[in-house]
Amino acid sequence: MIPITIDGRKLEARENQTVLQVAREHGIDIPTLCSHEALGPHGACRLCVIEAEGRPLRKGLMASCTLQVFPDLIVETKSPAVVQARKVIFELLLGRASESVALRELAEKYGVTSSRFKTESSEDCVRCGICIRVCKEQIGVAALCFAGRGQKKRVTAEFGQLSETCIGCGTCANLCPTGAIRMEDRGDERRIIVKDTVISAQPLVPCRQCGSHFQTARFIEHVRAKSDVEGATEIARDLCPTCARVVYAESVMVGP
Ligand code: FES
Repeated sequence: MIPITIDGRKLEARENQTVLQVAREHGIDIPTLCSHEALGPHGACRLCVIEAEGRPLRKGLMASCTLQVFPDLIVETKSPAVVQARKVIFELLLGRASESVALRELAEKYGVTSSRFKTESSEDCVRCGICIRVCKEQIGVAALCFAGRGQKKRVTAEFGQLSETCIGCGTCANLCPTGAIRMEDRGDERRIIVKDTVISAQPLVPCRQCGSHFQTARFIEHVRAKSDVEGATEIARDLCPTCARVVYAESVMVGP
């Protein structure tokens, strides 16, 4: 185990852990936007800023989600320098994405209610990249990417057109920390929407039992191709989750 100190508390960390992981394990609060336990460290939003010192580091502000622990590392999560830096980062994020309710609520929790920085067109996206990373790293599809630079940088599908690779799973929308990506089911179609632009439109499959449209055919095929649990996806293939549970329970109770 590796001894480190966070906010005066002596803690034991495991090798290769990041400061953010150790802090979370011990209930120490550090705000984040671009970090997710299912994904590797990224360091895009800088909201997880902390103050760290200990050889070989020079004392300074760093992103806790990318800083790996080492023996005798000393971390402050609430020092005046951290509070000030976090405030400016919140202001910068709010300046870019003032329409995001989730971001405004998070900023408010840390005492930031307004921003000195304003961009021409406000929106929800803070360019944290979680949507792009989860689609590529966890789903294995890579349907999303960044396009443009600077103020014009935005999340889009390939070539800015309706995606041909998206499977309509909606994981990007579920993980987006600011609500910038939405998933909408309308009748027999699922849409993935960034701001006002539909980047994917997929037909939904109806449940064989109850008739409700519940999942895209592409997603079902994707799961089937990846699953190694024989039979499990066969049940889920054309049944909605509710009906699948009933059918599975009945098959278990009846037995072979
Ligand atoms: Fe660490 Fe975004 S959470 S940089």
